Formats: sequence, C-alpha cells, structure tokens
Amino acid sequence: MEEQQVVSMPRIGDPAPEFKAVTTQGEINFPSDYKDSWVILFSHPADFTPVCTSEFMTFATMEDQFAEANCKLVGLSIDGLYSHIAWLRTIKEKIEYKGMKDVEVNFPLIEDITMNVAKKYGMIQPNEDSTKAVRAVFFIDPKGIIRAIIYYPLSLGRNFDELYRVIIALKTADEFGIATPADWRPGNDVIIGPAGSCGTAKDRMDGNDSNIDDCQDWFFCTKKLDKDTVLNKVLKK
Ligand code: BEZ
Repeated sequence: MEEQQVVSMPRIGDPAPEFKAVTTQGEINFPSDYKDSWVILFSHPADFTPVCTSEFMTFATMEDQFAEANCKLVGLSIDGLYSHIAWLRTIKEKIEYKGMKDVEVNFPLIEDITMNVAKKYGMIQPNEDSTKAVRAVFFIDPKGIIRAIIYYPLSLGRNFDELYRVIIALKTADEFGIATPADWRPGNDVIIGPAGSCGTAKDRMDGNDSNIDDCQDWFFCTKKLDKDTVLNKVLKK
C-alpha cells in the first residue's frame, strides 16, 4: 500500500510563522509588516486557472470592504513573479465575469517557487496535489496570532461572504467578550459563555443576570447585540 504523507501546519492560537517574500507589490516581511491590522493570508493552486481567476476577481472586488474592517489580503501560489504579473494583467485587461470587469488586484501576491512559505503553512497537501497549494485561508489578528483556518480542495472555489463573516465574527467576539452561534450575522443574538459555577447557573435560570436576555437552559444563554453597535465597533478598527 502507498504510504500516506503527513504534513505539519500551524494551528489556531499559534503565532503566524514568519517569512520574507517577494510579491507583486514588492517585498514583505510577514507578519511584522501587518502588525496593526488583521490579515487574510490565502493560497491558490496556480495562476492562469479558472477557479483561481474567479476567486481573485471576487477578492479584489471586495478589497475595500475588507479594508473597512481593518483586514488586509495577501495571496500566494507556487508560481513565479512574472507569471503572477502576467496573470493579473490578463485579469484586468480581458476577463469579464459575473458583472466584474477591469478588475485590478492591488493586494500582494507572493511568489513561492521554492514552496518555502507554502510548506511553513501546510498549504501543500501532497495527497491532494504535491506541486500545487490547496485553497488555504489563514485569519491572523493584529498580534500575529492565527485565529481561524479554512481549507478547501483544488476543485472548490471559496465563499467570500463567509470569509468576510469570519473576520466580523472574530472581531465581534473579541470586542464584546461573547461567542457567535451557527450562521450568525451582525444583528443576530450572541451567545454568553457557559456558566462556570453552580451559583452562576442558578442566577441565570432565576433571571438574576442582567447581561442575559434569554436562557434555553443554564448552559445556553443569549443576549441581544444590535447591528449598528457591532458595526460601529468592528469596522475601521
Ligand atoms: C482552478 O483554479 O481552476 C484549478 C486549479 C487547479 C486545479 C483545478 C482547478
């Protein structure tokens, strides 16, 4: 039987591995160049491929929306700088897709022919493909800590509304000390952490915790958090 290859990758809560790289926007030192903002570091399999082209056009179109949430974008593939430049020029000059056209990709795209960065981040998953990165997405906070990771295979284009939702939800959890339930969006009720003592559980069920609006049971309590309050805190910050 063929031996399965195991790859290592950084995990949630780990500091983002450091690297220096050449990009389409000049050299970057990661994550130190991004220390005052959130960053989405993402990989894609190859330049001049259709799913990746649709993804880059979507990300580039949403760049201002991410910037408003103080989140910068950094892409990577195992292609050279000139391939990156030629592909981004082609996207701008020729490609029209789902109402997007004349799209300029202004965020950096890392050249990683040596796979140095891709290997550090576990973006090469050899049992999927040994020479192309999978579609990895790392959400990194302003302290350089990895806060969420999503991986997609080569054939599956990412959902960019979900990537944006993840950034807003992570920032909301930090700002308000809450958790967000399934499919949460700004304006939906948020979750209060589980009761840590019998006294707290009793207070919650007796209605004596003014921070709580509703308890299904002692371990499942929610509070209201209106959309404007969330967005005023998490955008431009
Ligand atoms: C694409 O982006 O279209 C793609 C890249 C690698 C494998 C399959 C699809």
